[in-house]
Amino acid sequence: MSTPKLQQGDYHVPVLVREVIAFLLTEKSVTLVDATVGDGGHSLALLEANPHIRVIGLDVDPQSLAVAQQRLAKFKNRFLFVNGNFRHMTSLLTANGITSVDGVLADLGMSSRQIDRPERGFSYLDEGPLDLRLNPSLPQTAAELMAALEQDELVRLLRDYGEERQARPIARAIVQQRRRHPIRTTTDLRLIIEGVVRGPHRIKSLARVFQALRIAVNEELQALQELLQQAFTLLASGGRMALISYHSLEDRIVKEFFRAQALPCTCPPEFPVCVCGKQSQAVILTPKPVTPGPEELAANRRSRSAKLRVLQKR
Ligand SMILES: C[S@@+](CC[C@H](N)C(=O)[O-])C[C@H]1O[C@@H](n2cnc3c(N)ncnc32)[C@H](O)[C@@H]1O
Repeated sequence: MSTPKLQQGDYHVPVLVREVIAFLLTEKSVTLVDATVGDGGHSLALLEANPHIRVIGLDVDPQSLAVAQQRLAKFKNRFLFVNGNFRHMTSLLTANGITSVDGVLADLGMSSRQIDRPERGFSYLDEGPLDLRLNPSLPQTAAELMAALEQDELVRLLRDYGEERQARPIARAIVQQRRRHPIRTTTDLRLIIEGVVRGPHRIKSLARVFQALRIAVNEELQALQELLQQAFTLLASGGRMALISYHSLEDRIVKEFFRAQALPCTCPPEFPVCVCGKQSQAVILTPKPVTPGPEELAANRRSRSAKLRVLQKR
């Protein structure tokens, strides 16, 4: 599929760009991985900021990759595009002859381009198929997943991945509705949720249910765990990884992973001497997550939930 020529204003607006550059580029930086290249905004900024680095850009969505490829064409000698899931980062990089990197960026979630395409089904605001796959070749859409789950499994999905308080009544309404008519579109699902949660709370419930489905369809939390492990292993000594998350489930996983790497001894406090022998593997460079300032928030509403955490390998 050919990609129409895009203008500056058509691209996803990358968040916390200055902060990402400041944390990720060091005088040792040579090879960086942008694990979620999207429209290439962060990659572009990194490549422009330092003429000596090369960036390997991964994305699971072939459409994002096509856009980034076009946008970063002038850096073709310093930019390598790889279509794949970051949960396979080690094998994707090894296949391209790369076994060690100086920095990894992952800007999690989806891009504005994905959200704004009704045919992808990511937004409850637009009518479209209930798809929600980041990788269109995954075997199961959100509609198919919802049709297959038992009511209790739906409750767990909405609770675990959406932290939705009305999980049980929403799951019950889904099961009742699908007996009458298959739930195929974003509007089908939106109307069910709005039938259960009324008033201003319904907006948050809509967002949480769609988030839960997206996480489940794309196995996002499992993929994030795998990314963190592999990225950390691939980092050279002194290398850094920067993670931008957009909801508490992702942020918690990142925070706990960083803590575990930074922690020295894990012996119980009552032990007089250390018997585990564990040493700290990393330094947390952001004791508190970095969030967008007022200027960025005013310019880009979608940045409002972004949290950046950065870890440096010892
Ligand atoms: C927030 S956007 C990134 C935007 C990008 N930083 C930019 O400046 O345009 C997130 C991107 O990550 C991709 N993505 C999400 N999960 C992924 C995964 N497991 N593996 C690879 N890419 C993934 C999505 O397809 C999307 O393009």
